[in-house]
Amino acid sequence: MTQYPAVVIGPLFPDGAKAMVDLCERFGRYGMYSQENVESDLGQGLGQRHDSVLNFLKTGGRFGRHEDLKTLARRTNYFREEYAYGQTTLIDGIAPYLNHTAFAEAARAVHDRPIVEPAIVFANLMVPGQELATHTDVPEFRGANRKVMPQWLLVAMHHSGLFEPWRMPIATGVAWFHDCEGGEFAYYPDGADGPPVAHQVRTNTAVVFDADSVFHGVDRIASNSDEMPPLKPGMHLTYVGDKQWVVIAEDGSTEVARYRWDELRFSVSWKAYCFADERARDTWRAGGDDLSLDVVLERLISDLRARERILGPLPSKAEIALMIIDEYIVFPEPTLV
Ligand SMILES: [Fe+2]
Repeated sequence: MTQYPAVVIGPLFPDGAKAMVDLCERFGRYGMYSQENVESDLGQGLGQRHDSVLNFLKTGGRFGRHEDLKTLARRTNYFREEYAYGQTTLIDGIAPYLNHTAFAEAARAVHDRPIVEPAIVFANLMVPGQELATHTDVPEFRGANRKVMPQWLLVAMHHSGLFEPWRMPIATGVAWFHDCEGGEFAYYPDGADGPPVAHQVRTNTAVVFDADSVFHGVDRIASNSDEMPPLKPGMHLTYVGDKQWVVIAEDGSTEVARYRWDELRFSVSWKAYCFADERARDTWRAGGDDLSLDVVLERLISDLRARERILGPLPSKAEIALMIIDEYIVFPEPTLV
């Protein structure tokens, strides 16, 4: 059983969470998270996170609750916006979060690497009844990232262990700035075959871990209804004052749903590259020793042959894509209620 360190931080800010809640309101408008698409010859027609969607449909989520496709989509279409990218801040007041020393210290502990470069900060807003399917985050390798390769392939590459020399270790922090009913952060610090930990969300606290290796998700947020509003891509969530949030339809004006602040789940994610030394950081910056898609496929296919998943002639590209997901990304079993 592999054990992955997870560092719990709290309190994150000595003077409380109010500044971050104000910042969230000030930002005001949150689009629905829809994945950027990289069309690839391999696995044409597969969704970006075909791996976690497939597993979610198969298992019905962490608690094995099977529902129709439409409801499952509504439960997982949440809202997300970036607050910072590299050292570029997209809203005033985010710098203390982006460059928080507790995050950098925790990141060093998670990857045992001294050089930490914050890469991105983004906010996630989820509404009652929503949940986040168990997954690992999309990793990066030199020359291979979500801009040039499908996300499921990057995830499978990391789980295969075949591309470690090219991997860019990333530490992920997730922080919460209000209490939330339900919506536990569920993760598997002992690996997919170990027991899950359901971490209760509490204001002004954070967890830092290796989200590319550790399976994690968000349990369902408390709701007084089994019905979900018809949430779909193109909608956005907007702060309308007086501690109220409204989901607006694609037409930009029709109100789809209205929530009180305390019904939502608000988290802010932080990601940073972790380097062993300056030379490793400089190699990454200079773009040397990059992986190419051809090299990636060659390695995976010869490994699939060695594992006797491929016998004889090469299957179609679509079959290879599904085989890669199935062989390398081994999800935790659902927790039975
Ligand atoms: Fe994640």
